[in-house]
Amino acid sequence: MATRAIPTASLLSRTSRITSPQCLRLASTTHSPHHITHNHNQQQRRSISAYGYEQSKALTFPSYGDPSSVLSLHTHSISPPHGNQMTLRYLASPINPADINQIQGVYPSKPNFTTSLGTASPIAVAGNEGVAEIISLGDAARSAGFKRGDWVIMASPGFGTWRTHASATPSDVVLLSDAARDGITPIQAGTVSVNPCTAYRMLKDFVALDEGDWFVQNGANSGVGRAAIQLGRAWGLRSINVVRARSDKAAEDALKKDLLAIGADVVVTDEELQAQGFRDRVKEETGGKPIRLALNCVGGKPATAMAKVLASEAHFVTYGAMSKQPLTIPASMLIFKDIHFHGYWVSKWSARHPEEKKATVEDVLDLTRKGAFRDTPVEEVKWEWETKGEELIAKVKDTLEGYREGKGVFVFGKT
Ligand SMILES: NC(=O)c1ccc[n+]([C@@H]2O[C@H](COP(=O)([O-])OP(=O)(O)OC[C@H]3O[C@@H](n4cnc5c(N)ncnc54)[C@H](OP(=O)(O)O)[C@@H]3O)[C@@H](O)[C@H]2O)c1
Repeated sequence: MATRAIPTASLLSRTSRITSPQCLRLASTTHSPHHITHNHNQQQRRSISAYGYEQSKALTFPSYGDPSSVLSLHTHSISPPHGNQMTLRYLASPINPADINQIQGVYPSKPNFTTSLGTASPIAVAGNEGVAEIISLGDAARSAGFKRGDWVIMASPGFGTWRTHASATPSDVVLLSDAARDGITPIQAGTVSVNPCTAYRMLKDFVALDEGDWFVQNGANSGVGRAAIQLGRAWGLRSINVVRARSDKAAEDALKKDLLAIGADVVVTDEELQAQGFRDRVKEETGGKPIRLALNCVGGKPATAMAKVLASEAHFVTYGAMSKQPLTIPASMLIFKDIHFHGYWVSKWSARHPEEKKATVEDVLDLTRKGAFRDTPVEEVKWEWETKGEELIAKVKDTLEGYREGKGVFVFGKT
């Protein structure tokens, strides 16, 4: 059975700080990122959970823009749940590239700007992925099959997951059954629904690959790329993986070794991919077997170069544009090689296939439990009740910059 994060301890610690319920009226405060005040009453304000109210802090934005200018830490209270309402306490929420794009206003899935968090003007809570535990719920939510202590992930993007607590209804979430979460950590559950699902569906849904077949991908060190390597390996597929070259060759070698260790067959840099003679090398590696699937995270010239190693009638699936460069397709690839170019968006797929999404998540968690699917390297960003907004926002900003050791994940402590 899973080790359950029953909230008893945190509730007890709050109960020990009970103050007057009048403090509810103080609960909603938005701090500008540059003027975050640290009110000595914060501890007192939290303690109103003893009355069934919950205090929450959320990274919110009032309008689209650069994350470091528009994000701020907002404190508000959540009423006791009734009917189909549930109060969630977040356990882990990743900082994905799409979250940044959403704050910038350039992501197609828009957040919900609302005044329901106690502000005069609408604000939205950032973040799209994460896992939370149910800490209290109304009768209708209970009748719908939920209980206190259950873990849930988000049903769709736009809910807002960079927050300590939230009020949700059953349609906002997907329940992780006791069996599904058995032996799974909050970080594993909190990062399962986007990247591993994307890799899983792209390997399965565009062309039927048999054991021993090859695929090629760029952005191989991304969360999606690492998931594709591992899922491919678990299913007997073989992979050619392209990563960005590093100026530090020792770091580049270490990265290659790391990806080989999780199941990559071949790892090359984008420079090697674009060098003369690369197609001969591919033939050597694959023994001349056709490559019928390419996964494109990057775009630009390396993506075009990757398409050149594909067999006739192969499928080329674009799911990211990390280089911000357009994808250029020579006409000959369409006319003579009849390569099929597709786009893939896991959000749209999940909305259309909710049951398959649940099954995909459960399958990945099962592989994780068996040790066949290892975690993507992460940088844990601890979020305690007292953590300052500036610290959290700085970590969001880091996501946009340079070569990183691991994906940032907010890991919630005593909130
Ligand atoms: N369409 C979908 O449904 C879907 C689902 C999930 C993710 N995505 C997209 O997939 C991409 C990867 O997401 P993730 O969460 O897996 O990423 P991640 O784990 O945060 O890693 C980001 C990756 O992007 C690479 N990168 C950054 N800047 C780059 C540049 N200028 N040129 C080439 N590569 C660059 C990094 O390469 P290094 O390793 O060299 O640092 C790193 O591997 C994002 O574009 C994301 O929006 C799409």
